Amino acid sequence: MKVSQFIISFITLALVIPFSNAYDPSPLQDFCVAVGNLNNGVFVNGKFCKDTKQAKADDFFFSGLNHAGNTDNDVKSNVTTVNVDQIPGLNTMGISLVRIDYAPYGQNPPHTHPRATEILVLIEGTLYVGFVSSNQDNNRLFAKILHPGDVFVFPIGMVHFQVNIGKTPAVAFAGLSSQNAGVITIANTVFGSKPPIYPEVLAQAFQLDVNVVKDLEAKFPSKN
Ligand SMILES: *[C@@H]1O[C@H](CO)[C@@H](O)[C@H](O)[C@H]1NC(C)=O
Repeated sequence: MKVSQFIISFITLALVIPFSNAYDPSPLQDFCVAVGNLNNGVFVNGKFCKDTKQAKADDFFFSGLNHAGNTDNDVKSNVTTVNVDQIPGLNTMGISLVRIDYAPYGQNPPHTHPRATEILVLIEGTLYVGFVSSNQDNNRLFAKILHPGDVFVFPIGMVHFQVNIGKTPAVAFAGLSSQNAGVITIANTVFGSKPPIYPEVLAQAFQLDVNVVKDLEAKFPSKN
């Protein structure tokens, strides 16, 4: 390669590399449908920003995570979310927090966060936790039993769960890599959609008798 060719290749690369790193910003909510007329726009991707001069300490503050959520429900757990809706200062920061309470033998049922990886620390109790990798990775289960002080990571998008396998309540806190991680609870999403997905469709998908699907569909909508 001649020196001049080398220099041209080098300059071309230098020009192209910065652009090849550019991509669309991640969605900060489930969807953001474009509007033709600006007057009809209510959201940006995420939230509108306050004039920085108007910001105050309270915009970055939340109080009350010392209180347990009420676990008197079907799955016997409660997630208290502290995201951009509770702390407006989290807007554009890519981070949020939850407290999860589990009654004895309660569970945080299989679900996925479309926008965040989660790192969980167990404070009290004993949890059986796990996530399942994607089809491409053969749907492997990665599971552990956690004791106080143990930490576990649920990679972005993976279906995961936590179960309190102890006789006493359990308490965990988790950080999430999004200001609005989103939650898709598998059972509620699949069997509790409004309107319901045709039972015949789910019967084939889950290899179930259609009456079992109708039973499941009857169970979920009213309890969301
Ligand atoms: C979680 O706990 C809060 C506070 O006690 C309560 O208002 C809420 O209804 C509970 N959520 C569920 C799903 O039980």
